[in-house]
Amino acid sequence: MSDRGHWSGSYGFTLAAIGSAVGLGNLWRFPYLAGMNGGGAFVLLYLFLSIILGVSLLIAEQALGRHFATSPYGAFRSIHPKFGFTGTIAILANVLIFSFYGMIGGWVIFYLVTSIFCPSIQTPEGFAQFSGGIALPIIAQLIFMFLTALLVWFGISKGIEKGNRVMMPLLFIILILMCIRSLTLPGAWEGAIFLFKPDFSKISAATVVAATGQVFFSMSVGFGIMLTYASYLKKDTNIVKTSWAVALSNCLVAVLAGLAILPAVFAFHMEPAQGPGLMFVVIPEVFRMMTGGYWFGILFFVLVFFAALSSSISILEVPVTYLVDEHKISRKKAVVIASCICTALGILCTLSMGSTLGWFKVGGLGIFDLMDFISNNMLLPVGGVLLCILIAYVWGMKGVLAEVTQDGQIPFHGQKCWCFIIRYLAPLAIICILLSGTGILEIISAFAE
Ligand code: ALA
Repeated sequence: MSDRGHWSGSYGFTLAAIGSAVGLGNLWRFPYLAGMNGGGAFVLLYLFLSIILGVSLLIAEQALGRHFATSPYGAFRSIHPKFGFTGTIAILANVLIFSFYGMIGGWVIFYLVTSIFCPSIQTPEGFAQFSGGIALPIIAQLIFMFLTALLVWFGISKGIEKGNRVMMPLLFIILILMCIRSLTLPGAWEGAIFLFKPDFSKISAATVVAATGQVFFSMSVGFGIMLTYASYLKKDTNIVKTSWAVALSNCLVAVLAGLAILPAVFAFHMEPAQGPGLMFVVIPEVFRMMTGGYWFGILFFVLVFFAALSSSISILEVPVTYLVDEHKISRKKAVVIASCICTALGILCTLSMGSTLGWFKVGGLGIFDLMDFISNNMLLPVGGVLLCILIAYVWGMKGVLAEVTQDGQIPFHGQKCWCFIIRYLAPLAIICILLSGTGILEIISAFAE
């Protein structure tokens, strides 16, 4: 274990795992998905699924990672030699997600810099011009990829853990300040009501699919990230506790992000159902109208930057660990190879936002949407189902429980419930969601009629 590096202890690991979970998923994706899916009902569903599915999968991934102490590919292959491909799916998902994550990370850097020097260009037209351009978004993306690679380059405890020890506390402080500012604006309560008052008529199959996809993306489950992080974990850590800590912090940040953003959006009579542009189109407009908006704009993009960076290092760590463990190359070389591949794919993604590659579509989806769809709607759920099946039916619940409890030394309350979820509920639920999210369910029902 000493050659691969390890966390300094449970606290360092938990902080890094929270850093991985808390990211653009909470600050960028969650508020706009809540805005598009009717608010409260979506939020409630998301919180419910986070506890039922999210915590269970986090425990499963961490048990697997710690037990085999290797990359997702090696861990799944150790369960059964024919199932190494499950790890390959997870690694592929990370490569695709890191590619488009880098593009959004670049946008965040650009917005952070322009918040300081020229917030006046942060208009809807300015965003369209910037995101559809070539040089500026690519330079911003390269800076973001470089910073991510740098932290991963320094390894688990000196790079990733140290980075998170600085970023996570700051992130929570800034987020709370933003919430206070947003909730004290006149008319802000309408936004809070929108976020918390459930209208169950708004729950459709599409809402359930969106909420589940968000649980996977936001909690970093199904990616093999938690498996990879746990592979550097010492045996005495209580992974039930760390999983609950990650899940609860992640839910808390999602709700706080909603409270920091949606009340302000309502207070200034802006449109919450804006979709992915909410953060870059609506939020800067809100800051422009708000007293003290200049400073809150800067703070907001610092917050998003920390969240994005602490997640992107965990996403890059998965292919890096794979290259180090399976191909026996040095960490530094692995960081360069993985970052270059993801940067190349990410540049394609950036170019697809403008006229250079905007014409390229598969099934009506551009490169960015395609990468998002393949990773979130296909690879992550497939990885999640295979994880449950392999753990429950190939490794066996006895073996995994022995790992979680360290042969009965660590208490695991609710283990019967967890076994039921991993054996039956989670795989069935994820299969339904997978079929629905990929449109297969609609095709089957059309045939049945
Ligand atoms: N879990 C990470 C996020 O929410 C990927 O952004």
